[in-house]
Amino acid sequence: MRTRCPSRPVVAIALLLAVAIGSLHERAAAWGNDGHRIIGTIATAQVSESTAKALRELLGDETTADACTWADEIRRDRSYDWVKPLHYINVPRGSERLDLARDGAEGQQVVSAIGKYKAILADTTKPKAERVEALKFVLHFVGDVHQPLHVSYADDLGGNKLSLKSFGKKSNLHKVWDTDLIDRELSRMRSGGWAVLSANLREAIKPEQRTKWASSRDPLQWANESLAITRTIYANPPQGNGDVDDAYFTRWMPTVNERLQMAGVRLAVLLDEALAPGEAKPSSSKKDAGPKKDAESKKDGAPAKNGAPSKNGAPAKAPA
Ligand code: ADE
Ligand code: ZN
Ligand code: ZN
Repeated sequence: MRTRCPSRPVVAIALLLAVAIGSLHERAAAWGNDGHRIIGTIATAQVSESTAKALRELLGDETTADACTWADEIRRDRSYDWVKPLHYINVPRGSERLDLARDGAEGQQVVSAIGKYKAILADTTKPKAERVEALKFVLHFVGDVHQPLHVSYADDLGGNKLSLKSFGKKSNLHKVWDTDLIDRELSRMRSGGWAVLSANLREAIKPEQRTKWASSRDPLQWANESLAITRTIYANPPQGNGDVDDAYFTRWMPTVNERLQMAGVRLAVLLDEALAPGEAKPSSSKKDAGPKKDAESKKDGAPAKNGAPSKNGAPAKAPA
């Protein structure tokens, strides 16, 4: 049977639609893949042996770093449309604190999602497939709730509608915080990618920081911290012509680094609580196990030590 060739206008409309749908997907993106991988590998380097074993049993051959980005990959699958609101939580403009009675969207937001999927992960009576999915959700959503603009305002889609140029390229405020600042940091490093940045950030965590961050176990509190940062971000838009440049990078990259570190530390505690509850130690007595020599770290490409971290928790980096 002969098939008719679509006419040029039909092809053009189809292409435009594809681009438009593609950009809708982009709008709801979370920390970019590298941000999520960094958080996941900071966490897995710190979990107990039992938790590491449970992670391996649940994930099989999949690395934790890859599992951290699954919740973004399923955005392309219509059957997972219900997950989209679970990546963020929004508040009315001017709010200083979250109010779950007001902002809770009947549980369809990131704060409640973390609690819900942590409980499923911890429930060994649940089918394995359900717990694996719950694990992939918590690996991702603990990251998201630490991205300040995932706790922000609905009217501009968490900054997705705020178009700007970042380092000379078309972008938007949300993407700057998901991806562009981390990409800039990676391009300034002399060598290595996200795995090197992850190791540097992990090594830069001071014991007193770890103790403080690990003692905060309430996703609502993590979201309120993000909201406080979001308010400062909105109060201090990029200067001059409104573009994101090296001055913006210098001002905000230490905050990005700290949010990645905090997310990693708290994710480790959450995983220990869910997967090795009998062993979960008070956070203050917990030592950083350092990079693991097991299959996990090899698969995730954990790097060798790469220079001393700087004072503010930023990784060692070489200027471009
Ligand atoms: N869509 C609407 N609000 C959002 C937010 N805060 N973060 C990501 N996507 C969103
Ligand atoms: Zn995002
Ligand atoms: Zn997300």
